[in-house]
Amino acid sequence: CMVRHYKFNVVMKNTSRLCSCKPIVTVNGKFPGPTLVAREDDTVLVKVVNHVKYNVSIHWHGIRQLRTGWADGPAYITQCPIQPGQSFVYNFTITGQRGTLWWHAHILWLRATVHGAIVILPKRGVPYPFPTPHKEEVIILGEWWKSDVEAVINEAMKSGLAPNVSDAHIINGHPGPVPACPSQGGFNLPVHSGKTYMLRIINAALNEELFFKIAGHQLTVVEVDAAYVKPFKTDTILIAPGQTTNVLLTADRSPGKYLVAASPFMDAPIAVDNVTASATLHYSGTLASAATTLTTPPPQNATPVATNFSNALRSLNSKKYPARVPLKIDHSLFFTVGLGVNPCSTCVNGSRVVADINNVTFVMPKISLLQAHFFNISGVFTDDFPGNPPIPYNYTGTQPTNFQTMKGTKVYRLAYNSTVQLVLQDTGMIAPENHPIHLHGFNFFQVGSGTGNFNPKKDPKNFNLFDPVERNTIGVPSGGWTAIRFTADNPGVWFMHCHLEVHTTWGLKMAFVVDNGKGPNESLLPPPHDLPKC
Ligand code: C2O
Repeated sequence: CMVRHYKFNVVMKNTSRLCSCKPIVTVNGKFPGPTLVAREDDTVLVKVVNHVKYNVSIHWHGIRQLRTGWADGPAYITQCPIQPGQSFVYNFTITGQRGTLWWHAHILWLRATVHGAIVILPKRGVPYPFPTPHKEEVIILGEWWKSDVEAVINEAMKSGLAPNVSDAHIINGHPGPVPACPSQGGFNLPVHSGKTYMLRIINAALNEELFFKIAGHQLTVVEVDAAYVKPFKTDTILIAPGQTTNVLLTADRSPGKYLVAASPFMDAPIAVDNVTASATLHYSGTLASAATTLTTPPPQNATPVATNFSNALRSLNSKKYPARVPLKIDHSLFFTVGLGVNPCSTCVNGSRVVADINNVTFVMPKISLLQAHFFNISGVFTDDFPGNPPIPYNYTGTQPTNFQTMKGTKVYRLAYNSTVQLVLQDTGMIAPENHPIHLHGFNFFQVGSGTGNFNPKKDPKNFNLFDPVERNTIGVPSGGWTAIRFTADNPGVWFMHCHLEVHTTWGLKMAFVVDNGKGPNESLLPPPHDLPKC
């Protein structure tokens, strides 16, 4: 294994999309940002230098950060942000992981433009558990606002209303021709007839789960969230913000041009930017002027397409890549995830939309939880996060009239190596919605999922404890539930939140504290000397 050095200069860059130009926050002037390439077992050092007016922090989404929680990145959870003019070196080793992950800013809404791919190659000499592709391509899906993204969320927080939706979806930084700007080109993916490609697809969108489809071609899914799955063929993939999906694509159609489409999936009746982003799959030898074969993306409310895709995902669970699903459970937790309304005298309606887990709207602390934990600083958090909803109700049926949530900086404490089963239940408070829940520091297994209320007597009987999909971000279905299991084998403080940025901002977040174990390699390492100060 080797040490890889990267330098991330956070700088402003004037960027033109949708026929208008605005300055955006970028890494090294690139949008999307640079791809970080490493191999399993490599150590990565990324020096992040902040040249912009905002506080910055970078998260390495899906990297386990075993004992190196200081390098995880969420601002005020594992570190104070890097202030303008300051720098910080993220130093971590990639242990037992290979595949596609990604990095993104983890403060404010900066991740709209501050993000990029992490490609982790298998150890030297170790092949993929599928035929080696001819070539690999990173495909990053995202969203674009014509106006300044920080202004969008600041206005929403002032008014207490929902923020404006994005003006376009993008594929590798480009929306393709859309009614708002018909002349702009899209991303071009060149292929050679007969060859097989691996697409490393990342959903970096702020607020929308997306369907991804290529006209006339089947995709073979081989990996999600840097964990191998049993390969299966599909014409459409579903990918939530935070998730990554590797697919094999064989250029087996008659040479020509084929539409690549990314479009939103929302099965709740809320406003979304409905514009399909388009790119082009371009067989070599095809004239630029040739007509593109089109495809129709699934409609926004295509729940069956989404459910079929999710249900098809299974861990590879081979001898070499076994699914280590915890069978005996120490902590059986039940968390509701949803929205609420709290009074707000300065807001437009006298109230603001909030979000919560088990009725707790998380309040960000003033110094990082990890520092408070490591240095035993009291008064920063309380470890009384409820393991069950304080007052049970019919979560997906008739809702209580009081939507008010309680505020707090609460964590749930876990002993080292204890095992957790967590049922995440969407609620119908205000409206049922999808919630792609991301857990930092761990991979988990999705052992079950369903619609309506989770039934603790019946549903566990149908759990898949054999080959459930392993991931770091899971979509809780709208008006339904999902159950995950993981082993708390990583000491530190680990954020868990909805990866829809608007829900995170509204408070749909909490943290687990995992205590040190007794063994020699079971403690959180001390903080690096250059850890930013608040
Ligand atoms: Cu990808 Cu806490 O985020």
